[in-house]
Amino acid sequence: MNSFFTLSLGKDINLIAEDEKIILQSNALKLSFSASQLRIKTAFNHLKNYPKTFSELQELVKEKNGQEAVEKFTSYIEKLTYLGWICHSVFPLATAIPMTGDYQFSCPEIDWQQQTFTLSRFAYLHQIEGQMLLESPRSKAKIILLDWRATALIGKLSQPQSCASLAEEIPDLTEELTQQFISLLLATKMLSLEAENTHLIKWEFHDLLFHSRSRKGRHSNPVGGTYRFLEKMEPLPVVKPPMSEQVIQLYKPNLEELAKTDISLTQVLESRRSIREYNENPITVEQLGELLYRCARIKEVIDLKEKVQVSRRPYPGGGAIYELEIYPAINYCQGLEAALYHYRPDAHELELVTQWNQGIETLFTDAYNASAQHGMPQILLIITARFGRFFWKYQSMAYAAILKHVGVMYQTLYLVTTAMKLAPCALGSGNSDIFAKATGIDYYEESSVGEFMLGAIL
Ligand SMILES: Cc1cc2nc3c(=O)[nH]c(=O)nc-3n(C[C@H](O)[C@H](O)[C@H](O)COP(=O)(O)O)c2cc1C
Repeated sequence: MNSFFTLSLGKDINLIAEDEKIILQSNALKLSFSASQLRIKTAFNHLKNYPKTFSELQELVKEKNGQEAVEKFTSYIEKLTYLGWICHSVFPLATAIPMTGDYQFSCPEIDWQQQTFTLSRFAYLHQIEGQMLLESPRSKAKIILLDWRATALIGKLSQPQSCASLAEEIPDLTEELTQQFISLLLATKMLSLEAENTHLIKWEFHDLLFHSRSRKGRHSNPVGGTYRFLEKMEPLPVVKPPMSEQVIQLYKPNLEELAKTDISLTQVLESRRSIREYNENPITVEQLGELLYRCARIKEVIDLKEKVQVSRRPYPGGGAIYELEIYPAINYCQGLEAALYHYRPDAHELELVTQWNQGIETLFTDAYNASAQHGMPQILLIITARFGRFFWKYQSMAYAAILKHVGVMYQTLYLVTTAMKLAPCALGSGNSDIFAKATGIDYYEESSVGEFMLGAIL
């Protein structure tokens, strides 16, 4: 560990001093350190209340309690660093706050005359609660930039910089302080010193950020069903409130009859294909009704008392929350006018959302292009998420889980369309902004997250 970093205990670590020991306590863990030597106790007190550099702390311990005590204290610091309980600062510029345990804080040997430095393409700056934060999905720490000069240095690091060129034009910045700041960035993987390996090079910035923040391991945010809005906001209702007075009752299939006549599961799985060419005799409104009933209707609403209403549907969904909605966009369907509808899963009916418009036309053209221009789909099932319904309960992994639900719904649609001898094809890209414009639905409230093409089989 570099001795010039100023060390401090993380804000959420409590220190209790007892006769011959120091107790440190986080939300999850309590540790006791023997501190019979008075100066070790004093050094712990500095860590909590009056941070000093590592070398100053070592000196302080050595002066009165000798080398053995220094070694003991150093091993304590190593353990605390590994736990992610120690913040490292280069004053007055920046503080690195670890976000996880299993944390190494070390930077390589540097030839300060020769080496140039560039910011990693994964590092990003953003403002949180009035502070400028530097973060990266490659790092297990976040860095608070305490001074505008630190922000200026980050700006300059978009281009390769030597230590000397980096300090140029920025007032009151010695080369020594610049080196220390660079060391802090190196120890937290904010700089790219060498070419990315063949695995990392394939990652896009947004994908790595999403991956690392929606899984555990590289951040300290709560994950899972935390109900963070429980006392603050009502959950969105289990069924979306009516969107229109113009409704069309859909055909309900007889499931008992279907169970006798359906092809087997093995036949469905073995014959399922993505089909992008369509019969000129179009899909019918009865077939659409049967498909939606078998895949997406509400079978039962369940009251989870003080928390939230959930439901049972044919496909599985995290927490039985069911945030996905289906908007059938109709191009060519026997018995239904071309328009955009919303499927009400409780009443099993379609609500007219909007007549055919330019936006819907574009969504169909996009789908046609995404499927290599084989044939214009007769129906485009646009799948949206009512984000707030899912975000109300889940945190960190919520958006990732929503995308998993889209996959679950895709497969359910594939299986049932195959059994019904329709032409199905999932799509991997879509335009949420055009959907928002075509429908007038607020992008942040509910956006399209998937599209599924449908038609009559040739
Ligand atoms: C999530 C997902 C996204 C897809 N995106 C597209 C797409 O954008 N365009 C397309 O023509 N097919 C798309 N497909 C269909 C795949 O190309 C198809 O499943 C794959 O080629 C295997 O063929 P099969 O489904 O006939 O077995 C997608 C499938 C899935 C599951």
